[in-house]
Amino acid sequence: MSRYRLNSCFDPQEFLSKYWQQQPVLLPALFPDFEDALTAAEFAGLACEEFIESRLIRTAVADSWELEPGPFVEATFQQLPARDWALLVQAVDQWSEAVAKLKPLFDFIPSWRIDDVMVSYAVAGGGVGPHFDFYDVFLLQGSGQRRWLVGDRCAADAALLANSELKILANFETRHEFLLNPGDVLYLPPQMAHWGVAVSAGLCYSVGFRAPAVAEMLEAYSDALIAGADPAQRFTDASERLPVRPGGINPASLYEALTAVVALVNDGDSFGKWFGAYVTEPKYPELVQPLACELELSALLVQLDAGANLRRFPGSRFAFLELESGLVFFADGDPYELVAGSVEAISMLCDLTPLNRKELSTILRTDSMPELILRLVNQGSLVLE
Ligand code: SIN
Ligand code: CO
Repeated sequence: MSRYRLNSCFDPQEFLSKYWQQQPVLLPALFPDFEDALTAAEFAGLACEEFIESRLIRTAVADSWELEPGPFVEATFQQLPARDWALLVQAVDQWSEAVAKLKPLFDFIPSWRIDDVMVSYAVAGGGVGPHFDFYDVFLLQGSGQRRWLVGDRCAADAALLANSELKILANFETRHEFLLNPGDVLYLPPQMAHWGVAVSAGLCYSVGFRAPAVAEMLEAYSDALIAGADPAQRFTDASERLPVRPGGINPASLYEALTAVVALVNDGDSFGKWFGAYVTEPKYPELVQPLACELELSALLVQLDAGANLRRFPGSRFAFLELESGLVFFADGDPYELVAGSVEAISMLCDLTPLNRKELSTILRTDSMPELILRLVNQGSLVLE
């Protein structure tokens, strides 16, 4: 059971229709009685790990910000002043189960859209400066208070301060101001200028959503199409007429070429299978490690019968797609076309909440699922405990 709950006054449908991807909104006490998912000391410990991305940002005089990348040593924190710095750690949900438990609370948005939970600890005056992000974010205030200034929606090429490794906006006009207390959430759509400054020391949890750039999708999908393309499929001349001007490309030839390319790209099923695999690629693929000693199905079933639990590896991503040709399940960048499978069982497997005994037994009674579960356990996407 998650120790968090959403405020019963929150109406997700209203939020989706009025604010999501449209405008910022303060959601006061969205997490009633919120208590931090980790202590400041545990948080600082993460910033000392070599394999975890962290940054220390100091606010200098005259609104300038200095960036120091992690990992850090404990002594760094002991020498920090009482004011004007913030420590940020990326993807804390991968390392802290308590932080990971925040994610299912956002299930009014499809779970494959969640990127990670970045956490920042800032002392009074600390923050990362005015900037914008290319994704939607929910800023959940933990302990302490933070003031958020929200500006305009920025153009992708908005002017940035020169000589700063941080992408600080050169121009920032405050349009709204929000003071966040523990449990309050500020939602920001992509490209909104924002600037958080801690009023008192505390943590802020940024639940960020991924929005692949169309150019990136085009590149990755065309790579996949090229890999599977038939080299014998070529341009063919459409016209049998003598060219009027041999140097010209006639419209029929152009149409022929365009049709061939569009036909390859415009195949919903094949795009769907690629897309599901693309969006479930783990943020840190090297963290998903196969078992040193592969399990047999019988051994897995014995352990589950004996009461072992299955949970998703924190860095793994699952999703599914219902196509006319059948159900496709995706785990960590791989598609699994299920000949026999039920959408209920697959949907339970894709939920961000851990499987309970009832769900597990439903899944195991569904055709082809025990083999799928075995594969996911052996490749490290599901953890047996
Ligand atoms: C912060 O937590 O201070 C920065 C988060 C953000 O602005 O995206
Ligand atoms: Co931001």
